[in-house]
Amino acid sequence: MLDHIDKVFAAPAASSRSDVEIYQMWEIFKAVNAKVKAGGKVVSLLAGEPTLPPPQAAIKAAQDALNSGKPLGYTEALGIPALREGIAQLYRRRHGLQISPKRVAVTVGTSSGLMLAFLAAFSAGDTVAVVEPSYPAYRGTLKAIDLVPYRLTTDASTGYRVTPEMIAALPAQVKGVVIASPANPTGTMLSAAELRAIYNLCQQRGLWLIVDELYHGVTYDRAAETVLSVGDDAIVINGFSKYWGMTGWRIGWLVLPERLVQRIEALHGSLQISAPTLSQLAGIAALNADAELTPRVEAYRRNRDTLLAALPRWGITRFAPPDGAFYLYIDVGDFTDDSVAFCKRMLDETGVVAAPGVDFNTADGHRYIRLSFCMDASIIDDAIARLDPWFSRLNRR
Ligand SMILES: Cc1ncc(COP(=O)(O)O)c(C=O)c1O
Repeated sequence: MLDHIDKVFAAPAASSRSDVEIYQMWEIFKAVNAKVKAGGKVVSLLAGEPTLPPPQAAIKAAQDALNSGKPLGYTEALGIPALREGIAQLYRRRHGLQISPKRVAVTVGTSSGLMLAFLAAFSAGDTVAVVEPSYPAYRGTLKAIDLVPYRLTTDASTGYRVTPEMIAALPAQVKGVVIASPANPTGTMLSAAELRAIYNLCQQRGLWLIVDELYHGVTYDRAAETVLSVGDDAIVINGFSKYWGMTGWRIGWLVLPERLVQRIEALHGSLQISAPTLSQLAGIAALNADAELTPRVEAYRRNRDTLLAALPRWGITRFAPPDGAFYLYIDVGDFTDDSVAFCKRMLDETGVVAAPGVDFNTADGHRYIRLSFCMDASIIDDAIARLDPWFSRLNRR
């Protein structure tokens, strides 16, 4: 049957764009699973996933939708109009801004919003500046669609802030900038003045500015500013995963400059058809759940303060400013220069698990770890009770 084939080809290879870095956090997950399997107790400060259920109103809306007997089929590619309207209202409530719901696109989590934004703004091969430390999926998503990340490394000297000087110094091939405020893993939040300076520089240089505002609502000493207060010509990414605690519902949104709306509609129609209908209906209800969610942010604040009070006892004096989000990004460089090994050892010897900094920062993440504090206060207390004696025994390098 194969007689006519006279040449043997090599087996087809995986694409170059699928050669995305694997998170080191998976290594830690494996160690966690092994410890649990062996009957060990794990106190997890690893994941950025709120542990409380979604707001009651969201659950009720989803239950009602399921009980309605309706098919819950596809929605318009840009999302259910009432949800787009509700999101526009959120900007009115939080920031006093009039945003047209026509500029809102509902996406499959913030993650798909990121990909759609990158696809709409950049052409294959373009270089895009990504602030580091940052959420590692920015780099992975860019790579997966043939874009080239340009690492814009920040450090403690600027409070992990990207400065206008850094934007001004970007090489000519850079076509856009991705920032987050508040940021993961640092919690660093940019002021209105900082956002304005960055926005204006991007405008002057003809760069796309993409701002991940997923942690809006989870802030401690002042409310987060949206870049939309500065101007309409940025792409804003947001979603229900963090403040609303709806990670698995896979629902997010974009606020777009008008000239990108049709592009996103077409891309979303092709790539995903629409965001999950049940989650969109739950999202409409969740938008009015501030009374239930505000106390959760207060609980995160207490967790943050408890951990901040423990850091000096552990001999840790250098950490990023936790203005928002629910992470502490701490410098453990006095103890290690291998944050993955450090996390494994900490897990092994105390049962407490944190995320290694290498995933967030290729420059000096090897000396940082990230502690997440979006869990119940009893978990934080347990972690501290285990870490207090451990750190006091730990040798400095
Ligand atoms: C800064 C940031 N952006 C985006 C995401 C992805 O979130 P989503 O669940 O909305 O896809 C995360 C998740 O941790 C994040 O920390």
